[in-house]
Amino acid sequence: MAIKILGTGSYLPSKVITNDNLASALDTSDEWIFSHTGIHSRHVAEDGETTSTMAAKAAKEAMAASGVQPGEIGLVVVATSTPDFCTFPSTACIVQGMLGCEGAGAFDLQAACAGFVYALDMARGYVATHPGKKALVIGAECLSRILDWTDRACCILFGDGAGAVVVGADGEATPTARVVLGADGRGSHFIERSGGTKDALVLDPKTGIPARPDPRLPVMTLQGHDVFAFAVRVLARTAQELCDMGGEAVADIDRVFAHQANGRIIEAVARRMKLPLEKFFLNLDTTANTSAASIPISLDEAVRKGELRDGMKILMIGFGAGLTYGGVRCDWPTL
Ligand code: UT7
Repeated sequence: MAIKILGTGSYLPSKVITNDNLASALDTSDEWIFSHTGIHSRHVAEDGETTSTMAAKAAKEAMAASGVQPGEIGLVVVATSTPDFCTFPSTACIVQGMLGCEGAGAFDLQAACAGFVYALDMARGYVATHPGKKALVIGAECLSRILDWTDRACCILFGDGAGAVVVGADGEATPTARVVLGADGRGSHFIERSGGTKDALVLDPKTGIPARPDPRLPVMTLQGHDVFAFAVRVLARTAQELCDMGGEAVADIDRVFAHQANGRIIEAVARRMKLPLEKFFLNLDTTANTSAASIPISLDEAVRKGELRDGMKILMIGFGAGLTYGGVRCDWPTL
């Protein structure tokens, strides 16, 4: 039995922050940001918008595109590093309630920017073992809420948004997916978000018992150079491994959906893979890096532009904090 992506959806907030907007507050410029990243602007959630509201909008689109009703969904997975709450209730539970997917299992999956690829593989396993059920896989991020907007080496890179797919079984089709999931925890300090239990507990000096929680907001820190080198190495290696698993040439790949972190990373990966850059889907000039949302947003954009035809050999490859990485090679839309 094969498993298929039955429909896609995405959501980007209407508020846009351009590089020029950032340059009015920071010591940076459109020229520097674009030449170092390929980014011109990013979407940013407004007051009242959260990871769950964006996730639910993307999911509704994916369900409409696939003709699937809320009652048919048996599992909701939200890949995110920016849940509404830190950490419960899960964003997936909130989304499940918003969509009316009564009784569906729901959980968040945290594998940073590689999260969507991880979640897609979890959904594949779920659908294979739960006949008749469908899974909703969402990548959603509200990174603007965890950025230090005075840190010019980091805040310029990211944007908010959500992408979603509905996954279901197709008894007729032959499975096509090959999957790689990996991590290298030795680089866990390269990208960190504060606000977890590693933060020191503040004891009341008089009583010796914990004082109230530290009110500082969590922020992201990034060692860009180290992450850049890791990304190029691991994306090219994962792509090669996925092709080797099926005994196919890299040149036979039709379309690559690489995590949209930095245009220079994607250019370097294309050079290593000896694939023309035109085969790589690119939208980070207007989305920036939306972490776990970047691959499903790209897939949905490609579907809506009519760029994805049945049977196309596609690669989805991602990397992120952890450090994590992963990839899926499939004949669209069959997993
Ligand atoms: O999803 C995973 C998330 N992480 C990533 O994707 C990060 C991957 N890394 C990168 O994308 C790149 O390393 C960056 C875009 C973050 C940085 O680019 P870079 O070419 O590695 O620049 P750099 O860090 O070597 O900095 C070069 C210079 C420095 O000045 P000095 O020390 O040479 O005087 C920085 O202070 O550029 C300066 N700089 C900036 N200048 C203007 C750093 N950020 C900015 C900025 N505007 N926004």
